[in-house]
Order: sequence, then C-alpha cells, then structure tokens
Amino acid sequence: MLRFQCLRRKPLDQVLGAADPSQPQLRRVLGPVRLTLLGVGAIVGAGIFSTVGTAAAGGADHVGAGPALVVSFLIVAVACGLAALCYSELAAMVPASGSAYTYAYATLGELVAWLIGWDLILEYAISNAAVAVSWSGYFQAFLAGFGLEVPAWLGTDLRSALQSSRDLTGALMSLSTLPAGLLQPDQLQLAGLAEAGGRNVAALALAPRVAGLPLVFNLPAFGIVLVVTWVVLIGIRETAGFNAGLAVAKLAIILFFLALGAYYVQPENWSPFAPNGLKGISSAAAIIFFAYIGFDAVSTAAEETREPQRNMPIGILASLVLCTLIYVAVAIVLTGMVKWNTLGNAEPLAFAFSSRGLNWIAGVIALGAVLATTSALVPYQAGQPRIFFAMARDGLLPAWAAKVHPRFRTPYWATLLTGFIVAVCSSVANINELVELTNIGTLFAFALVAAGILVLRRTDPQRKRPFRVPLVPWVPLAAMGCCVYLMLELPAKTWWRFVLWMAAGLVLYVLYGSRRSRLRNSPAPGRSGNPPS
Ligand code: ALA
Repeated sequence: MLRFQCLRRKPLDQVLGAADPSQPQLRRVLGPVRLTLLGVGAIVGAGIFSTVGTAAAGGADHVGAGPALVVSFLIVAVACGLAALCYSELAAMVPASGSAYTYAYATLGELVAWLIGWDLILEYAISNAAVAVSWSGYFQAFLAGFGLEVPAWLGTDLRSALQSSRDLTGALMSLSTLPAGLLQPDQLQLAGLAEAGGRNVAALALAPRVAGLPLVFNLPAFGIVLVVTWVVLIGIRETAGFNAGLAVAKLAIILFFLALGAYYVQPENWSPFAPNGLKGISSAAAIIFFAYIGFDAVSTAAEETREPQRNMPIGILASLVLCTLIYVAVAIVLTGMVKWNTLGNAEPLAFAFSSRGLNWIAGVIALGAVLATTSALVPYQAGQPRIFFAMARDGLLPAWAAKVHPRFRTPYWATLLTGFIVAVCSSVANINELVELTNIGTLFAFALVAAGILVLRRTDPQRKRPFRVPLVPWVPLAAMGCCVYLMLELPAKTWWRFVLWMAAGLVLYVLYGSRRSRLRNSPAPGRSGNPPS
C-alpha cells in the first residue's frame, strides 16, 4: 500500500484551500517592496561577507577562482535565475505556505514532498546556523576593536578549535624541518593560520573541562539565534519591518565598500585572471552559491502576502537581480584591491582595507557585516517554522507544530523548535561544513522544483498560471542541469552527509508521516491527481 500512498498528490484546489477559514489565519501584510526587501534581506549575508574569501583564494577542500570569481558569480546567477523562474511560476500558482514542499506535494507526490521538506531543513535551519557562526566572528572582531574580548572557549566551536590546532601544529612541524631559505614562501600562509587558528588553539587550552572534555561553545552565535527567534515569534509584521530596515542598511554598507574600494583598485591584481582555470571557477561557484540562497525564502511568506499571484514573482526576481548586480561589483572591486591568494580569511571585505592600514574603514565594514548577517538570519528563522507548519498541517509532522499563536498569529511551537535546532547547531558546528551541507541540500530542492514545473505542465495544463516560465521544457531542464553541475563540485564527505540525512528522513516518513498523512486518511476517493491504488 505504501508504494501507492506515497505517490499521492495533493490536489491544487485543496492546497489553495488549505488554509481552513475556521482556523486562525496568518496575516496578509506584505506587498512587492517589502517582499523584495525580505528577499534582499535573506540573500545578502554571510555569503558575500565571509565565504567569498575562501572562494577566491581556495581552502581545505577546493582550489580558488582568483579574480575569475566574477565568472563564478555570473554562472551561479544564471543557475539561480533559471531556478527563480521556476519558483516564480509555482509560487504564483500555489500561493500557500511551505515553499518547495507545498509545490512538490501538488506535483510530485507525498514522498517527494516529504523529502523536500526534510531537505529544506538544510537550506533554512542549517544555513542559518552557518550565518550565525559568521555573525559571531564579525561581532567578536567588532568588539575587539573596542578592546573587549569574548573568552576564546566561548567564541568558537570544538571542531574548529581541534582543526586549527591540527593545522597549526602540522604547519609548524613542516616548517621546522625545512632549511631557513625555504621558509619565505610559506610565511604568509603561516601568518594566516596563526591569526585564525591561534585563538582557537587558546580556546582548547583555556576551556573548562567536563569529564576530561574541553567545553568549547560559540556563545555569541547561540545568543543571536535566541534574539532572532524572539523577533520572529512576535509576528511577521515586526519581522518584515525589522528586516526591511536592516536590508537597506546593508545595501548602504556594500555601496560604501564599493565606492571606497574602487579608489584602491590596482588593475595588476586582476592578472592572472583565472589562476586555477575552470576547476577554480567551478569549485568557487559551488561555494558562493551560498551567497545567492534566499530568493526562494520570499515564497514561504505566500500566505502573508497581498495579491500573491502578482507580488510573489516580483519579489523573487527583483531581489535576485539586485543581488547579482551587487555581487558582481563586489567581486570585481575586491579582487582588484588585493592579491587574490591573500583573501583566504573570514573577513575578506574588511581585510581588503585593514591590509592597507585603513583600519577605520575596516571597522565600519565589520559593523556593516554584523548588521548584514543579522538581517540574513531573520527570513530563514521565519521561513523554517512555516515549512514545519505546512508539513504538520498535512499530518506529516505532529499537530502541535501547526499551532498558531492566538495573539501573535505565528506558528509558535514550530518557531521555538527551529530556534532550538539552529542555536544548538551554530554553537557547536564548523562554518565550512555547514555551508557545504546547506548548498547541496538547496541545490537538490531547486532541481526538484524545476522538475515540478515539467510535471505540472503535463498533468495540469489548464491551471491558471499568472506567471509562466518561458521556453518550457528548456528552462527547467537547464535549471536542473546547473544544479547537478554545482552539486558535483562539492566534496565527497558533503555528499555522504547529505545521503545520510535524506536516508534518515526516509525512515521517519515510513515510520510516521506515511501513517499519519491527512491526505491518506481523509475519505475523498477519486480526487484529481491521485494515481490508482
Ligand atoms: N545567502 C545567505 C547568506 O549569504 C544565506 O548569508
């Protein structure tokens, strides 16, 4: 039976009527400008302020793009643009909470919908853990500018501390075996390792011990997640207003970077343009994909949007175009300001100025990054509970996750659960691993959304589509191809983690969701879209 049940599709009419009028409704308060700012708020964050550095210079698992980083940004913009067209068609057609999960339920069946919902936890909750870690780094750098220091063991995670300790020990040992004349080329790398790793090593040495284990814990990351959880708990109106202000502030800080940075560009830094060729460009693209994630977060607010058929596509596409323009400009200026292979640090935009002794500008950028990453946290922290909400409303998760707060009109239990998961992950996990896991999960969701367009055009061609993807099937097929190409650029260990995560989701579906599904248990024979059973 499970074989057929899991292929059940939720009829679109039922999806659109999912918000039962007898139940408390979410408030429709968002228009096109607020939605676009919600998108920009979700997109511009840790990606452009942090991961851009290792994408240009290379890291433990990949080679850098060098000045050709701008090409990586353009490649990912095309991939996301294709996916955004698919999201826009579905978001306008299915203006209900839950994003790709809801679309998949109406198009690809319950099992795929569940897997997407499960997968979206990587995009929303795990990405927010990565952003919170980045926030913590910039926040601590900002405090350090005032001579205030968070104790090392309360400012990082155990995995990073152990990794830094290994890297630094390895580098020192290899240097100690070399003749003095060979030390020169490694000095820059060693200085970088010592700067980034020294504090982490101190964290290990100074941490209190519990049963012999060092207690290393990222307290600022944990704290900011709790604050943002409270903000989204009190309501989407406050969330969007709070976020719109921060989105404008971070656009201003990036324009500040571009205006001053352009003045310090030295064209010789752009040569060689692509030091690691196509390999460098592709692996950087798979990393900076993180910087583009977020335009789809707009679609999770569909039930809180006025005229969603019109405003959803505007919000999704406008925020993506705006961010692409900004990112391309940042890539050109950043790689023109300093040599690409010196950018492998956590604060590349601030570093481009501090390396020239322009510390006050670097300080302003660090403050801007704190604001920017705060702003990037909000839409995901609000988006994830709405996906849990939609899944619980369908019976695939326990009913308490669909409870709407009588006063705030927000899914409060799901919001608190999200806050707990993200706060814990951000306080104990390593940012690079979080970014890679987020990327693989999000790319998979994008590919399935594109597949959903193809399926729905066949199975429900008459349905009103206020926004239509052009050139079907080519655009959805190209979107799927781009997503798979970027997924293949991610390291094998990321693939293993992803496969294990999805396998765990499958087990949970078989044990819980497949038995409790409302669609399965509701007596409605002969619904459109259901395969014969
Ligand atoms: N795009 C978001 C960021 O860069 C996830 O922080």
